[in-house]
Amino acid sequence: MNERIANFQAVKSRGERIAVLTAYDYPTARLLDESGLDVLLVGDSLGMVVLGHPDTTFVTMDDMIHHTRAVARGTQRALIIADLPFGSAETPELALTNAKQLIEAGAHAVKIEGGASHAAHIALLAGAGVPVMAHIGMQPQRVRIEGGYRVKGKTEEQADALLADASAVEAAGAFGLLLELVVPAVAKAITESVKIPTIGIGSGTDCDGQVLVLHDVIGLFPWFKPKFATQRADVAAEIRRAATEFARALRG
Ligand code: KIV
Repeated sequence: MNERIANFQAVKSRGERIAVLTAYDYPTARLLDESGLDVLLVGDSLGMVVLGHPDTTFVTMDDMIHHTRAVARGTQRALIIADLPFGSAETPELALTNAKQLIEAGAHAVKIEGGASHAAHIALLAGAGVPVMAHIGMQPQRVRIEGGYRVKGKTEEQADALLADASAVEAAGAFGLLLELVVPAVAKAITESVKIPTIGIGSGTDCDGQVLVLHDVIGLFPWFKPKFATQRADVAAEIRRAATEFARALRG
């Protein structure tokens, strides 16, 4: 098994927390890696916070390869996971072809949106030696079908389906599980029910780790601020200040 994947899984057995942020380019990857983050996720959220699209369904494999290469050039230590973007995993075979391209670009693992519905995809990738993380709960690539970003696991039926998804992806060979916008009590129950680490976003505090979009943490996307993300810097304000100061100094 890849050493970085083994280290990732060992964190859960030690009862420690896994810190994950998104990265899309060389300087942020290098800074995050130097800051001791466990995992850098080249998320397809890049479509929104870097490329200016309304949602992640516009992101292509070419986009993901381009940004994964940049992140890999800036990373010495952290585990790099790259998203399989919208339409890149329609079949298990297509998922494998595209996952291999992300690995060639420098990712150590890929993330796929889907639970039991994607167990065959996960089994094929894992069997071919491509480490794969499953992403369940709110799946942003379904935002247009679902008409918004809604919390999952509110009903007993939904909670049972999420627990079944978690068990199916673990059995299929996923090395980790991302839980997005899952009711905290359900995220806790899932975390206790599987051996693989769970990484939460907007899913309470009881997952094995937490992931956030970098731009939300450093205040680099001031036009939208998710409620669950604590902003710890105001980079947008600093960019505006420095740019205004530069222009003013130049113009006199
Ligand atoms: O694309 C992404 O950044 C993600 C996170 C929201 C978890 O999948």
